[in-house]
Amino acid sequence: MSSEATATPGAATDHVDELDVAPEVAAAAAPDREIAVEVGDNIVEVKNLTVKFGGLVALDDVSFTIKRGEILGLIGPNGAGKTTCFNAMTGVYKPTSGDVLLEGKSIKGRKQHSITRLGLARTFQNIRLFGEMTALENVVVGLDARHRTSVVGALLRLPRHIREEKTAIDRGMALLEFVGIASHAGVLARHLPYGFQRRLEIARALATDPKVLCLDEPAAGFNPAEKEELMALIRTIRADGYTVLLIEHDMKLVMGVTDRIVVLEFGRKLADDTPTVIRNDPRVIAAYLGEPEDDVA
Ligand SMILES: Nc1ncnc2c1ncn2[C@@H]1O[C@H](COP(=O)(O)OP(=O)(O)OP(=O)(O)O)[C@@H](O)[C@H]1O
Ligand SMILES: [Mg+2]
Repeated sequence: MSSEATATPGAATDHVDELDVAPEVAAAAAPDREIAVEVGDNIVEVKNLTVKFGGLVALDDVSFTIKRGEILGLIGPNGAGKTTCFNAMTGVYKPTSGDVLLEGKSIKGRKQHSITRLGLARTFQNIRLFGEMTALENVVVGLDARHRTSVVGALLRLPRHIREEKTAIDRGMALLEFVGIASHAGVLARHLPYGFQRRLEIARALATDPKVLCLDEPAAGFNPAEKEELMALIRTIRADGYTVLLIEHDMKLVMGVTDRIVVLEFGRKLADDTPTVIRNDPRVIAAYLGEPEDDVA
């Protein structure tokens, strides 16, 4: 199945009217999953989030919400605090102050795996895969968190374990197919072409059955055609009932795929609005013109 086949045309609306449910990944990866139908309520609330590294305030009292079913862009110049925000949201860093609520539940004091179980999954700016495992195994690891079989049962290969293993492999394959790399299921992750590694990271995050998928520069290092394909995949993921938080440097791409954009600069929130408004915001333009590196397209 090609990702473009189910991409939502013209997904970059200024607001989310309704969720175009195409439960493909959901059905494959999590048959029991309840697809979100209440679109527009706040699924994530980032409240006064502050992260300090010694004297450096990497994130300074940042608040924003993510609405259910939307693709929210998180942009800003290098060092603005985007990855730090992801890290604080997903339990990699403990916030200095502030909180993040997922469906009203605080992530405070929770470890990474517990936040993943709450429904917040992420990919990394610097790809983190199990290089010595195959693509399929990398995805099955994510699905494994859902298994109910005990370790003893697994060792003895009791019938339920064998059944779950088969289901996990089927679901893993379906996810690989969804992200377009099923043909490489048996290839070691470190031998995969770079673009396939990026897609595998997304499949692995989806395997944890998230409600919100946070993507940290998933198209970094891609050529324009590859970027377009990836954005089509992200639209399909959203159409499948997921909420997406997307960090991406390429302004043209971000404007084309997101419903709303939060702009960070020097750890502070500079703007929070629709792509059209953000594009014409003089403060945003100034922030980007101030960029020393020319990686803003
Ligand atoms: N673990 C850390 N220890 C100390 N400083 C850090 C750490 N992580 C990030 N920083 C600093 O926090 C600031 C924000 O970094 P962050 O990685 O969040 O930026 P970013 O917006 O993701 O940038 P980029 O677009 O380059 O990925 C930077 O000044 C960075 O050097
Ligand atoms: Mg970053």
